[in-house]
Amino acid sequence: MIVYASRTGNVQSIVGKLGLPAIAIEQAISITKPFLLFTYTDGLGSVPLVVENYMQQNHTLCKGIIVSGNRNFGHSMFGRAGDLLANYYQLPLIAKLDLRGTTAEYEQIKQFYNSIWNEAR
Ligand SMILES: Cc1cc2nc3c(=O)[nH]c(=O)nc-3n(C[C@H](O)[C@H](O)[C@H](O)COP(=O)(O)O)c2cc1C
Repeated sequence: MIVYASRTGNVQSIVGKLGLPAIAIEQAISITKPFLLFTYTDGLGSVPLVVENYMQQNHTLCKGIIVSGNRNFGHSMFGRAGDLLANYYQLPLIAKLDLRGTTAEYEQIKQFYNSIWNEAR
């Protein structure tokens, strides 16, 4: 399962292309299964508040982080929400995508997803 936050549609669009089970963070309140967290990056490289709150409650079920950002914000700010979450919760940062990213990155995400959930089964 992928739990995602999308404000302007990029993350949502990517999630649609991955073809993996996914749920918007607003709908994932009572999740009981392990998930990957896919977020965008907010101003000054920050973690969106909705994601911060969600992870405070549900981080024990989270198996990895995927982030979208925009390289134009500069190297230290690009996708920093993903770095912050991965460091704080000691989780793997699976991919950092520039806006909607590339098909190669989608493959990488799918591979990670399958490696985790084939193991769990
Ligand atoms: C107000 C605002 C601030 C942003 N700040 C950053 C930033 O500091 N670093 C970054 O990498 N991307 C930043 N972004 C870019 C978004 O993270 C990026 O466009 C992402 O793909 C948005 O995903 P979404 O369309 O699913 O909401 C910002 C976007 C907006 C609108």
